[in-house]
Amino acid sequence: MNESKYILVTGGAGYIGSHTVVELIQHGFVPVIIDDFSNSTEQVIDGLMEITRADIIVRKVDVCDFAKTKSIFEEFRFDGVIHFAAFKAVGESVKEPLNYYKNNLVGLINILDLAKEYEVKNIVFSSSCTVYGSPDGSRIVSEETKLQQATSPYGNTKRIGEQIISDLIKSGGDTKVLSLRYFNPVGAHSSALIGELPMGKPNNLMPIVTQSGIGKIGKIIVYGNDYNTLDGTCVRDYVHVVDVADAHVKGLSWLMKQENSLEEYINIGTGKGTSVLEIIHVFERISNTKLNWSFGPRREGDVEEIYADASKAMEILEWKSNKTVEDAVSDAWNWELKMKND
Ligand code: UD1
Repeated sequence: MNESKYILVTGGAGYIGSHTVVELIQHGFVPVIIDDFSNSTEQVIDGLMEITRADIIVRKVDVCDFAKTKSIFEEFRFDGVIHFAAFKAVGESVKEPLNYYKNNLVGLINILDLAKEYEVKNIVFSSSCTVYGSPDGSRIVSEETKLQQATSPYGNTKRIGEQIISDLIKSGGDTKVLSLRYFNPVGAHSSALIGELPMGKPNNLMPIVTQSGIGKIGKIIVYGNDYNTLDGTCVRDYVHVVDVADAHVKGLSWLMKQENSLEEYINIGTGKGTSVLEIIHVFERISNTKLNWSFGPRREGDVEEIYADASKAMEILEWKSNKTVEDAVSDAWNWELKMKND
């Protein structure tokens, strides 16, 4: 009898998805990737094969295409779903709100619907610390921290996504959903065979730093130096993407042990804040490269300082981050160097 546990990974060729596929295989699961490759490339699959020495099951499917997604549920008997597939660029979401609502919410609804129809009870949803907005009071947020109005359509898709899940659970049935609220995932696999692959100009700090370091893009503008933080620049909780991937495997394993329908929300962060300037200095030290940067005005919508109270992840999932910001910077840099050499 085949005891393999098949796990549907939507967006499995993406940044966090691909790292999670590695962890799933290393823990004995059989991931089935569906991805429309709108924000990734087929090379990611080559990287996955090289790291895992396993066959990678992948289907080019847009999760918003109900019929095609349904055909995957017909093809495999899943024990769980990890739903990553979504757009995530904040600025773009302001310019194209309908695309964001359509893609991120229709995709989620299709997955919840099909999971119900095919009795797949264990679902992990990619949420974000964006649901906390700009927290008033403490800068360290726990799952009890009051959620805020989203500041972008992207952020709103995560808030609404959590509400859709909550309404579904309240309606009865036996679905179990764990929403993981990631802080700032950074870094790459230590093999440098997979990592972040921003299409076009990156928006996030870490790929901007590594691309500037390698000369792919010019000067880094540090957005604001007059924040009420240790050095005046914004503070975030940068968590290594391999640790984030590991949280999904722990999350899924925990869900599988739960008997009853549930909704659970867990922060995935290190519990430690790092400023923009600190990231720049760590990069310069590790890469032995001088970065070209200067201060610019604040970026609209930026949160001054936010980091996770990650104690619930430890209590419930027995998860904590193991890698440091230095590990993340070093792995992100090795990945950038590898991409240049290729
Ligand atoms: C952003 C989104 C967040 C989303 C996450 C994942 C906002 C307000 N938040 O997080 O909802 O989940 O991306 O993609 O956009 N910085 C610079 N110069 C740059 C780029 C960034 O100084 O050229 C600074 C930013 O001001 C910020 C920090 O670096 O303080 C991190 O920025 P970024 O990587 O874009 O992440 P977030 O803004 O935290």
